[in-house]
Amino acid sequence: MNITDFRKNNSISMVTCYDYTFAKVLDKTDVDCVLVGDSVAMVIYGEESTTYATPKMIARHVKAVRKGYRGFIVADLPFLSLQKNQTDFLQDVRRLINAGASAVKIEGLTGSEDRVKLLVDSGVPVVGHVGLTPQFVNSFGGFKVQGRDQKKKEFITEEAKVFEELGAFMVVIECVPTELSKSISECLKIPTVGIGAGSHTDGQVLVLHDLLGLTEHKFRFVKKYEDLFKRSVEGVQTFKEEVKEKLFPKEENSFQ
Ligand code: KIV
Repeated sequence: MNITDFRKNNSISMVTCYDYTFAKVLDKTDVDCVLVGDSVAMVIYGEESTTYATPKMIARHVKAVRKGYRGFIVADLPFLSLQKNQTDFLQDVRRLINAGASAVKIEGLTGSEDRVKLLVDSGVPVVGHVGLTPQFVNSFGGFKVQGRDQKKKEFITEEAKVFEELGAFMVVIECVPTELSKSISECLKIPTVGIGAGSHTDGQVLVLHDLLGLTEHKFRFVKKYEDLFKRSVEGVQTFKEEVKEKLFPKEENSFQ
């Protein structure tokens, strides 16, 4: 895939990935692209929000994913990178691209329009992210559906439009009512990818650990396609019991 392959009405599938092992798994699938999201801070490091992700952390994970996945990788520009001086901001972006990212995703836009334009003009493909932008969790007062009132609806729609005007090639819309993501998707020429935003976006993104059932929480917008948490517990428990009962290792697991 390259940025021109991401088109409207094209059922784009995106999943997060943070490590080499799962990158190899995703490389065997036809998923359209992988996101090394700042959700790495929560999923892998157990932090309470994505604000704990740093450029170094994300770059490290992009590097690992790139070793196993040959397709298109979007990397999140982490919390407060946009607010750095231009040299340090570009240094963060360079870190992600040189680690193997094909594009960067930017949460929120207002006040950072010039930064998005600078990246696009410099040849860095940009994905916008609007709606529930988790880096703003502290000002939203928690992980809550956004865009329920008219003012917020207009704000989110405007941000999506400006991302497009500035040259972003795709926009992620997170946790907004279906009607809002539908109207945004209809008025943009670039594709939209939704999470918790209903079925009218041009694609869907999920956190890999959620869709595989590796996380225990239940979000309305997640479908668990597997139950790997339960199966992992059972697998390790069986190993423990077989060791106790001297059933493992067998001859075929031993060297003569
Ligand atoms: O970091 C992330 O995983 C994301 C997705 C939820 C879109 O930004």
